[in-house]
Amino acid sequence: MTAHTPQPAPPIGLLVELTHRCPLGCPYCSNPLALERPGGELDGETWKRVFSEAAALGALHVHLSGGEPTARRDIVDLTGHASKSGLYTNLITSGIGVGEKLTGDLADAGLDHAQLSFQGADKETNDRLGHYAGSWERKRAFAGYVIKAGLPLTVNAVIHRANLHQVPAFIELAVELGARRLEIAHTQYYGWALANRAELMPPRKQVEESITLVEAARARLKGELVIDMVVPDYYARYPKPCAGGWGRIAINVSPTGKALPCHAAESIQGLEFWNVREHSLADIWHTNPAFNAFRGVEWMREPCRSCERREIDWGGCRCQALALTGDARNADPACHKSPDHERIVATALAESESGDGALRFRSYKEKVEA
Ligand code: SF4
Ligand code: FES
Repeated sequence: MTAHTPQPAPPIGLLVELTHRCPLGCPYCSNPLALERPGGELDGETWKRVFSEAAALGALHVHLSGGEPTARRDIVDLTGHASKSGLYTNLITSGIGVGEKLTGDLADAGLDHAQLSFQGADKETNDRLGHYAGSWERKRAFAGYVIKAGLPLTVNAVIHRANLHQVPAFIELAVELGARRLEIAHTQYYGWALANRAELMPPRKQVEESITLVEAARARLKGELVIDMVVPDYYARYPKPCAGGWGRIAINVSPTGKALPCHAAESIQGLEFWNVREHSLADIWHTNPAFNAFRGVEWMREPCRSCERREIDWGGCRCQALALTGDARNADPACHKSPDHERIVATALAESESGDGALRFRSYKEKVEA
């Protein structure tokens, strides 16, 4: 890996996986296959130090995520500290187990925004794909508590073959719940989603229809609802600037304190990820070789090295390049310039018409080695 020496600009945001505990079992979960156990989670004081260090480093916001972040009993205290440190605080939650009192306490502690996931746009689909009976009612109730507490609400919908037909219903749901923003994000295929790719990959035609639908809804709901859409990159011409570029704008911290340039970074062998227990966030950001491994453009090979988009998408996703080509330094094969692009699109198209419908749900009890 090529080292990169210039001082990086400060990160914009911090995403903390406070715990991998989660009541849901989504088959596209972005947490690693080998989930971290509660006994190893950072204590509250360490998380608070990390928040203070992030603010001092120049970060503007923190995403309180998981797993289910409210499974932490100290979530109000942690939110309060992050807010007092000067960070904009965003809770990314399933909404399960978050009652009216807890929502109010979080708002009082300084929570700025709540992002609520839905697995489907009706009860049957939502509860089946989240692998949790009764989650539909609980999520809807939580949305009401958020609005009552005066917090802005974003609805998150991760879409794939099993729920892509519900895009119009997700838009209606977001409007009905009073959300200001709807994020329709196609599944990204690593971790659990890669294990389920044959069941989740949608046909290209269905994806194109959903894009048209969203564009029409954006025009119709202008001023009422903002709709963000992330399309499946296997069908795109160019890859996404994953994580905003490796080591450029964000730091992820796992439940046990590993600082990562993106949530799937541990899938890349040979990188040593420093832990916030032993290193300050500033030390990690500036000097951990893992953060420098793919920072900037010096590490790139062709076709990225001489590409006019190399500082736009930063070569796409390192973890996807590794998973699909066997080498994280290759161009993300979602890019049409990658020599592997045709092969992976052909695979995607074949998979979109295959699969036996049997999803492998994420299980916190199942101990799976990555
Ligand atoms: Fe991005 Fe590399 Fe493709 Fe250029 S060749 S568009 S830098 S992934
Ligand atoms: Fe790791 Fe994209 S998920 S770089």
